[in-house]
Amino acid sequence: MRMYDIILKKRNGEQLTTEELNFFVDNYTNGNIPDYQASALLMAIYFQKMSKKETSDLTMAMANSGDVLDLSSINGIKVDKHSTGGVGDTTTLVLGPMVASLGVPVAKMSGRGLGHTGGTIDKLESFKGFSVEMSEEKFIENVNKIKLVVGGQTGNLAPADKKLYALRDVTATVDSISLIASSIMSKKIASGADAIVLDVKVGQGAFMKTKEEAIELASEMVEIGKNLNKKTVAIISDMDQPLGLAIGNALEVKEAINTLKGEGPKDLFHLCLTLGANMLVLSKKADTVKEGEKLLLQSVKSGKALEKLKEFVKAQGGDTSFIDNTENFPKANYIIAVKSKTKGYVKKICAEKIGLIAMELGAGRATKEEKIDLSVGLVLNKKRGDKVLVGDILCYIHANDMQKAKKAEREILDSYKISQTFTGDIPLIYNILK
Ligand code: URA
Ligand code: CA
Repeated sequence: MRMYDIILKKRNGEQLTTEELNFFVDNYTNGNIPDYQASALLMAIYFQKMSKKETSDLTMAMANSGDVLDLSSINGIKVDKHSTGGVGDTTTLVLGPMVASLGVPVAKMSGRGLGHTGGTIDKLESFKGFSVEMSEEKFIENVNKIKLVVGGQTGNLAPADKKLYALRDVTATVDSISLIASSIMSKKIASGADAIVLDVKVGQGAFMKTKEEAIELASEMVEIGKNLNKKTVAIISDMDQPLGLAIGNALEVKEAINTLKGEGPKDLFHLCLTLGANMLVLSKKADTVKEGEKLLLQSVKSGKALEKLKEFVKAQGGDTSFIDNTENFPKANYIIAVKSKTKGYVKKICAEKIGLIAMELGAGRATKEEKIDLSVGLVLNKKRGDKVLVGDILCYIHANDMQKAKKAEREILDSYKISQTFTGDIPLIYNILK
C-alpha cells in the first residue's frame, strides 16, 4: 500500500477502505508517513468529505493508535459525558455528584484548561489538598466504592489524534465535521466509555456557530457511536451567552456547590438535569428521561448529591469544609461591580469575549506553561432577556490586579448588548439527537 495512492483516491472523491485508513493512521503515528502527505490527505478529506463508514473507520483507527483503557473491572455501565467546549461550563462538577449519588459510576479522565477558563481539574484544585494523581488500582477502587472519580489524563490516549489535530491546526483543516467528530469520538472510545452523552454547544462562544453546523456535527457523532456499538446521545445547547453566572475556577466550584444545594442558576441546573437524565437512561438506571430527571431532582432535594460531592472530594484528598463554608475558597483582593450606562433589555452577552476577559484576569492559560489564578473571574448579575436600568450591576469582576480589572470593566461594557425592546429568548436546548 502506498500513501500516494490513498491521497489520489480521496482527491478524486472515492471512498477509502478500512485497511487504507488503518494504514494511514498507523504509519502517520509511527512517523513513516511525513506531515506533507498527511496534510494533503486532510485537505482532500476537507473538500471531498467522508462517508459515515469512513468516519467510523478513522475514529476506530485513531482510538486504537495508543492505549485503550479497560474499565471492565468497574461495575455497571460506564457512561461518559463530553462537552464540545464553552464558557463558564460547570456541568461536570454538578452532574458527576448528581449521577453518582444514584449509584451510576462516573469515571472521568479530565484535562487542564487551555484558553478561556480552566479545565475540570483546575477547578477542583480550588479545594485545598485535592489531587488527581492516583494509581490505576486506586482509580478503580474509588469509582467502585463511591461511584465518582476524576483522574488526570495519563498514558497514551489516541496519540494519532493528538498528532493529526496539531497538523490540522496549521493546515486550515480543523473545521471539517468528519474530522472533528472522529477526533472527539476517538478519545471517548480510548477512555473506555460504554455509552456517551454529548453536549454540543452552539453559538458565539462555541466551536459551532450555527444550529445547522451543530446538528450536523452531533448527528455525525451519534452515527459513529451507533456504528461502533456505543450508544450515543447528543444534546445541542446554547452557548451564545455563558452558562450559569460564574466564570473562573473557585467561582465556578462555588456555583456548582450552590447548584447541588438547589440554589444555583436555572440554566445550569436545567442543562445538568437534561444531560444527567440521559446518562441515567443510557446506564439503564431510568427507563425514560422524565423518570431520570425525577430521580436527579430527588437526589438534590434530599441532599444526597451534595453528600456525594463531599465523599468524592474527601476521597481525593480535598478539604470538604469548603463545601459547608464556601468562604474558605481562595478569594480575590478586589471585587468590582460593573454598572450599566444605558437602560433596556440585555440582548446579547458575547460569550467568547467574556471567556477571554476572565482569562486575562488570570482564570485561564494563554499557553500551556502558565499558572492559573484560582480566585479570579467574573460573576454575571444580568443575563439575556433581563431588564436593566442605568446604574444596575451587570457583572462583578473578581481580580487581583487593579489595572487588569479596569481593562476588564471596559470590555465587559462592550460585551453586553442592550436593546430598547425585549427581543425574546433563545432556547437553552435546541435539539436532542439519539
Ligand atoms: N475538539 C477535539 O477534540 N477535536 C477537534 O477536532 C475539535 C475539537
Ligand atoms: Ca458558570
